[in-house]
Amino acid sequence: MEIINRRQRMFSIARKLRRETKTVGFVPTMGALHAGHLALVQECRQRCDVVIVSIFVNPTQFNQSQDLEKYPRDLTADAAMLSEYDVDYIYAPEADEIYPEGFSTSVNVEGLTDTLEGESRPGHFRGVATVVTILFNTIRPDHAFFGQKDAQQVAVIKRLTRDLGFEMEIVVVPTVREESGLAMSSRNERLSDEEREKAAIIIEALREAKLAFKKGERNASDLTQIVKNRIETEPLAKIDYISIVDRETLQPVDKIGDEETLIAVAVAFGDIRLIDNVILNRKQ
Ligand code: PAF
Repeated sequence: MEIINRRQRMFSIARKLRRETKTVGFVPTMGALHAGHLALVQECRQRCDVVIVSIFVNPTQFNQSQDLEKYPRDLTADAAMLSEYDVDYIYAPEADEIYPEGFSTSVNVEGLTDTLEGESRPGHFRGVATVVTILFNTIRPDHAFFGQKDAQQVAVIKRLTRDLGFEMEIVVVPTVREESGLAMSSRNERLSDEEREKAAIIIEALREAKLAFKKGERNASDLTQIVKNRIETEPLAKIDYISIVDRETLQPVDKIGDEETLIAVAVAFGDIRLIDNVILNRKQ
């Protein structure tokens, strides 16, 4: 496993791998790795000849400078974890390799980025779309791997991949969960033990709505109410949003038809905002 810091070096390795017709898999991360990231790496290892993981805490996707400062950084620990997973390259650039002086270009995916997470985190997805475009352009992988927990990020990245003509497959890996069902996230570490235990209410509520859907409920407002009622039984939970949207366009759905549809939620426990979702009408 080699750790690469320079964009130029990553670029020439990627070029060499293409010449050798190796299938290149890419897992972008911001480090602070947990089992959710490792599931992406495992999937990538199974499908690809070469596995590249990036670790870059992207400043442009943070709304609050304190969040960026507080973001956990431990490249040694992350690299130790990845070495157990047969990763070939870690790309860990400094900020000025990604955003050189005078950097003035950004990628904005119109229409998908103002709702849901975008509403409480203005500019967040512009930062994500910009850095992912830069990373894709450097590495030009055949497959890139993202977790379903960040459903809006997945929709944004799939759209930019199509719109900008990147020739690659976006592979979406199911959400990895703690034993309680709580979706894995680096934010879980910041919950108190009690909050962490009680946060399982989120997936319980989503599963209750999914069951109602399976039994024939097609009305989005009734499904929303099921999620709301269940989460409200937990006094520590504060609902930010519960939205039923098309999985691809993220447009709200009133009556669920045959399309893949998300029930997406954001719920705060104290200062920590958690997101999760379930898919209705999953096609694959
Ligand atoms: O999901 C993340 O960790 C980040 O948003 C990503 C995709 C690595 C871009 O910085």
